[in-house]
Amino acid sequence: MILKKLYIKTYGCQMNEYDSDKMVDVMLAGAELEQTDKQEDADIILFNTCSIREKAENKVFSDLGRARILKKTNPNLLIGVGGCVASQEGDAIIKRAPYVDVVFGPQTLHRLPELIKERIASGKAQIDVSFPEIEKFDHLPASQTAHGTAFVSIMEGCSKYCTFCVVPFTRGEEVSRPFEDVMREVEKLIAQGVGEITLLGQNVNAYQGMTDDGDTVDFAFLLRAIAALEDIQRLRYTTSHPREMSQRVIDVYADTPKLVSHLHLPVQSGSDRVLAAMKRGYTALEYKSVVRRLRVARPDIAIASDFIIGFPGETDEDFEATMKLIEDVGFDASYSFVFSPRPGTPAAEMQDDTPDEVKMARLHRLQARSSELEQEYSQRMVGTVQRVVVESISKKNASELAGRTENNRVVNFVGSPGMLGRYLNVRILAVSNHTLRGEVVEAV
Ligand code: SAM
Ligand code: F3S
Repeated sequence: MILKKLYIKTYGCQMNEYDSDKMVDVMLAGAELEQTDKQEDADIILFNTCSIREKAENKVFSDLGRARILKKTNPNLLIGVGGCVASQEGDAIIKRAPYVDVVFGPQTLHRLPELIKERIASGKAQIDVSFPEIEKFDHLPASQTAHGTAFVSIMEGCSKYCTFCVVPFTRGEEVSRPFEDVMREVEKLIAQGVGEITLLGQNVNAYQGMTDDGDTVDFAFLLRAIAALEDIQRLRYTTSHPREMSQRVIDVYADTPKLVSHLHLPVQSGSDRVLAAMKRGYTALEYKSVVRRLRVARPDIAIASDFIIGFPGETDEDFEATMKLIEDVGFDASYSFVFSPRPGTPAAEMQDDTPDEVKMARLHRLQARSSELEQEYSQRMVGTVQRVVVESISKKNASELAGRTENNRVVNFVGSPGMLGRYLNVRILAVSNHTLRGEVVEAV
């Protein structure tokens, strides 16, 4: 049987987006297969799942139910479940959804073609959710990219074990990718025309990469090495951990302009009591000290964050401490979520007396203030000149282009299609909702 069309659906974070791209690469390499965006046309359907919150996990099972119906019209259809739900549930997925053919984890996605072959040969569902350390990277085909930006994963897993989080269980312990491997991938991407790299991992600033000489280099070293490559225009990373924000990394902001003035540094809460119960390893004051030092190194740095609202035992006083931290730091964009108890994590066993309505009211208050701050941030950008990468031609008006600033805002301005993919200096003229308007000052 020749498999023809592959459909893939991604849930959750950028790590999963990256893994999905890699799944497509391994599946398409040497196979008679093409990607489709129509589930009904597919011969293989892959779900790359997320289990960070209960809602994301439930969504997977309702989507699986729909895919099952397609098996009636196409009996050869294969369904695979990968990602964090697969990792956490393993063969329980097959018990709950016996029509699933392959279950694989974030660290075994490179074995996907083999697992599918085995499924076809044996007629039995295949499950592999093991953590074969960094093997994954050794078996992935070279990245292909159509745009000027690309992600490069520099580490897998997480060893922080925050009490609310499933990631250490679903993605395994933290393992850094060897230094030269990362550099080779970056150089390959540059050769394909990539100018902007985003380094990916759960705690990228904890990076400890082995070199060919048997030494270990840290994240600051890696950042400087990549920024030193002539054709790199912009360097980003996500996510980083406040506890790992060493002075060495902060110093890179002082002397490496290619490292963008935007940082996603999840704080989770402003209450020391809650931070301790979360096992985050810092206090609100320590977090603010990191921010202060970052702003000494890079005065215009925009800091985005993540918040968990309604962690077990969070009192009004704890929540007010979070609201105060938001004011003190003046965050740019932030993501906030109501605590979702995840099976197997310590926080899921903690006493939680806060009614849902109280949690929702807190969430709405935080989100309202947070989007006001984001708007104020945009307003402050009016009149400034921003370095923008041109990403697309405006859908509404062909003489307009859309570009992205370092702090991830979309700017619309008049320009020509020849400017696509280039870096331009654009003066910000106005703010409208979530986008900015600007005019080109000069091509960089
Ligand atoms: N490495 C990052 C850090 O330093 O915190 C976090 C990665 S986690 C995959 C992404 C975000 O999901 C977290 O920052 C947290 O705000 C949120 N999150 C994780 N577990 C959660 C839970 N059980 N309930 C609600 N939100 C959660
Ligand atoms: Fe999760 Fe904490 Fe790691 S939020 S990904 S255990 S740093």
